[in-house]
Amino acid sequence: MKCILVTGGAGFIGSHVVRLLVTKYPDATIVNMDNLTYAGNLENLRDVASQPNYRFVKADICDYTQVKKILTDFAITGIIHLAAESHVDRSITDPFIFARTNVIGTLTLLQAAKEHWKNDMDSSLFYHVSTDEVYGSLENGGFFVETTPYDPKSPYSASKAASDHFVRAFHNTYKLPVIISNCSNNYGPYQFPEKLIPLFINNIRHNRPLPVYGKGENVRDWLFVEDHARAIDVIFHHGRIGDTYNIGGFNEWKNIDLIRLIIKVTDRLLERPEGVSEKLITFITDRAGHDLRYAIDSTKLKTELGWTPSLQFEEGLEKTVKWYLSNQAWLDNVTSGDYQKYYEEMYKL
Ligand code: NAD
Ligand code: TYD
Repeated sequence: MKCILVTGGAGFIGSHVVRLLVTKYPDATIVNMDNLTYAGNLENLRDVASQPNYRFVKADICDYTQVKKILTDFAITGIIHLAAESHVDRSITDPFIFARTNVIGTLTLLQAAKEHWKNDMDSSLFYHVSTDEVYGSLENGGFFVETTPYDPKSPYSASKAASDHFVRAFHNTYKLPVIISNCSNNYGPYQFPEKLIPLFINNIRHNRPLPVYGKGENVRDWLFVEDHARAIDVIFHHGRIGDTYNIGGFNEWKNIDLIRLIIKVTDRLLERPEGVSEKLITFITDRAGHDLRYAIDSTKLKTELGWTPSLQFEEGLEKTVKWYLSNQAWLDNVTSGDYQKYYEEMYKL
């Protein structure tokens, strides 16, 4: 029987990956290993937590002894590694935790996997989930392809790039079977409201200012989180060992246009006069080193493995706004405690 370890399964994307695998593969055991930082929340998995093929283990990916024990105890044959510090703004404030979790944590997992699988490399897989931000910023048009040279610009993307390099080095040096995917910005249910879309939906609901960095001209390429989870499933089961796959939906939005759309949808669902929340838009000092544009070319994933996004953006955004508006208890829970302090220090609004 297959036993798959998902790291960071209590986070935003990880919870969707765990839900998909637990539901789709009842004969496989899915072990969620997460140390429950501010971004990890077991409420995200409440609907699958009692499934017989789901297990949760609270553990830190930087703890070699613990990681090795989990790999042995569960006879893990595949790892899908999502655990990370994931927010650019936090990486600007405190880059060290990003080096620890994203670099040392990934290296710890790689080393433990190498030892655990040393007699059976062929039937195992280390799948590393990464970001398009490792490629840097597209200032002069074009798209990121799998061969675009790495050029990370923020402490977050630098730490993810370093982790990607370690993954490739373990493949090259020790023949560890690895696959990496680099995905564009995700959105959808269960995203921590420090990221643009859930933060703005929550602020609109509470009539709070909407802090737009610079002039709102930066461009991001948005993908519905369940489509990312489906892509991870396809790549994990059918991807080529040693390869990289870019994941994205060819869906670029300038921040200010996206923000106006979020306002429109949220006002309508809250039965407010159309556009009334536009007055909440507040232009603030730009993020330091703010990448101008990300855009992913996911042609390889489509042609080689047949994956395409299932949702049009407008449909996905509507679903997402509805989810946050009808899950206020979830939002209230994750925005209690330390969140207020983070928010005040970050925005001073
Ligand atoms: P998230 O911040 O929502 O979740 C991260 C999870 O990792 C949390 O549950 C947290 O508790 C856990 N974690 C953190 N440090 C840990 C440690 N030391 N040991 C064990 N668990 C730990 O992140 P996310 O947005 O779901 O992103 C998941 C992965 O996908 C990350 O690797 C990120 O770089 C990548 N990614 C994210 C996006 C995006 O738009 N969010 C896009 C592309 C790639
Ligand atoms: P974010 O969701 O933090 O993702 P990333 O920085 O990884 O792309 O931000 C998305 C875009 O929105 C990015 O260009 C920064 C911008 N942004 C704001 O203008 N205001 C905010 O409060 C936040 C969180 C983001």
